[in-house]
Amino acid sequence: MRSPIGVFDSGVGGLSVLQALRAELPLERFVYLADSGHAPYGERGDAFVAARTHAITQHLCAAHGIQALVVACNTATAAAIDALRQHHPDLPIVGVEPALKPAAGLTHTGRIGVMATRGTLGSGRFAQLQAAQPAHIEWVLQPCDGLARAIEHRTTDPAARLEVQALCARYTQAMGRFGTGAGEIDTLVLGCTHYVFARDELRALLGPDVRMIDTGEPVARQTRRLLDSSGRLATTGDASGDTADSVRLLTTGDLAALQAAAAQWLGLPPTACARVALPTASID
Ligand code: DGL
Repeated sequence: MRSPIGVFDSGVGGLSVLQALRAELPLERFVYLADSGHAPYGERGDAFVAARTHAITQHLCAAHGIQALVVACNTATAAAIDALRQHHPDLPIVGVEPALKPAAGLTHTGRIGVMATRGTLGSGRFAQLQAAQPAHIEWVLQPCDGLARAIEHRTTDPAARLEVQALCARYTQAMGRFGTGAGEIDTLVLGCTHYVFARDELRALLGPDVRMIDTGEPVARQTRRLLDSSGRLATTGDASGDTADSVRLLTTGDLAALQAAAAQWLGLPPTACARVALPTASID
């Protein structure tokens, strides 16, 4: 059987990336790890996020023999992807970053909003990414404390669903006016993989004309390119087509929450999900 592609996030947010990966690479197998027992990452600091990232990668390599890794978390990419590549030089690794460049290409008003975690927005990687964009763009950066946590619980807790709505309202209000008129934000970058699952709430607040951009599809295409260039891309006939074989979802947190998210967002059966305990990473 083919080695799977490992995908992980602090929790269920990376399922938005897994969705795009499965559509782009239907012949590949996937093992997804939601580190929900340690979510959210966004307000935890780099050292914590880097240690979790190393522990998860070690586990996915040792227990699942992954052939490639997708870090489906902006916060973990910002905090740890360079060190991760150094530790695993033979493993193709794809990260996710807020889609500033595509947003800069699409805006007409020149004013772009970015919703992301505090960790992502405060990172050196983000500063570099922002500095590489056209100088005339005005960026409205909004750290969204608590939003990933509320999304994490929304499928199993009605109070969390209301909290998602309230936080989306609070943060979009804080960013100023949205719309297509002069001086308005016409493009919103969803710089955290969890926020894709708050699209409906955001759409209701922002109206039909504001563009929302996430990174699932470009990351899936980049993963295909990387597999192809390293001769690892599955060819016809490699996959069984059976869901039980093609995708495994693991969580370090609440199994019922992962099962609910997998069913609601990806149409996957509860049997695709399991709990996992991870040993702590040793980082030299
Ligand atoms: N989904 C993650 C991201 O893309 C992290 C959310 C969190 O755990 O704070 O940044």
